[in-house]
Amino acid sequence: MKKWYDAIKEAQSVDEIEEIRIAVFGKKGVLVAEFAKLKSASDDEKAKIAQELNIHKNALMDELTSRKITLQTLELQAAMRSESIDVSMFSKTSQSGALHPVMQTMDRIVEYFSAMNFAVKTGTMVEDDFNNFEALNLPKHHPARDMQDTFYFKDEMLLRTHTSPVQIRTMMSTKPPIRMIAPGAVFRRDYDITHTPMFHQVEGLLVDKEGRVSFANLKYILEDFLKYMFGDVRVRFRPSFFPFTEPSAEVDISCVFCDGDGCRVCSKTGWLEVLGCGIVDPNVFEAVGYENVSGYAFGLGVERFAMLIHQIGDLRSLFEGDIKLLEQFQ
Ligand code: DAH
Repeated sequence: MKKWYDAIKEAQSVDEIEEIRIAVFGKKGVLVAEFAKLKSASDDEKAKIAQELNIHKNALMDELTSRKITLQTLELQAAMRSESIDVSMFSKTSQSGALHPVMQTMDRIVEYFSAMNFAVKTGTMVEDDFNNFEALNLPKHHPARDMQDTFYFKDEMLLRTHTSPVQIRTMMSTKPPIRMIAPGAVFRRDYDITHTPMFHQVEGLLVDKEGRVSFANLKYILEDFLKYMFGDVRVRFRPSFFPFTEPSAEVDISCVFCDGDGCRVCSKTGWLEVLGCGIVDPNVFEAVGYENVSGYAFGLGVERFAMLIHQIGDLRSLFEGDIKLLEQFQ
């Protein structure tokens, strides 16, 4: 038996202890064999041998258990030492964050107009019918309302369909002259390759004394702005319709993909539509109680600008949080 006490003492791993346990206490182990020998012993001896064997059995079990605990502790300590993580270490794979391309584009737009002395206004995303439609010369049941369908709450509240209501809010709360832009999120019931239910616009409004604001002023600043955003492009104004401006125009730039030769993106026209603008309709000034003033306004979609600047094919991809796409704009 002494040999087993030594073996336990010398065991160097929990695995070794387990082997010894099986050799001593297992079905084919030493103790079973020793107890089996009792059968052939004389009655006198039997009691004595059995007693001795039981003492060994208990003592060996105690030794085994205590050595096992010691070895388990040692093994755990070794594992903790070798597998420990130094949380203060720099990760080789760490990445720096960056602004989303839409926000980068928005910042650049704001940068231009701030430099031109336009104040930045925000308004609210939940609007009322008056600010979003009525005051912008879009009376109830007017077919022009169909151009923008959105999400309604009760009591004539809705998610704003454009940033134009910020024109109304600003005019109602301040006196002319006004030079403002309003960047922010807007909402519409659209979803396809060039539309998402939420997107961003930047609105612009300039109001001054009657006769002081002309279409030429509007044309100058937008041309200058579009060259700031897109580089050396040609700019053209096309007559259009918006209820809140008269006359109204849509503004195109020469296609940034084919330089105006005609390609798939510009539908072979050589031109890309980038914003809407016009001279503020007198009905709008009347709705906010302004008299003897003139002004111009414009509005643009920020995602469209970002897509053209970064040559992104599908507008929806901007909102999928795809790291592979986003990290290209760091
Ligand atoms: N609010 C228009 C839209 O969302 C864009 C727009 C066009 C704004 C002409 C203007 C403007 O201020 O003058 O489609």
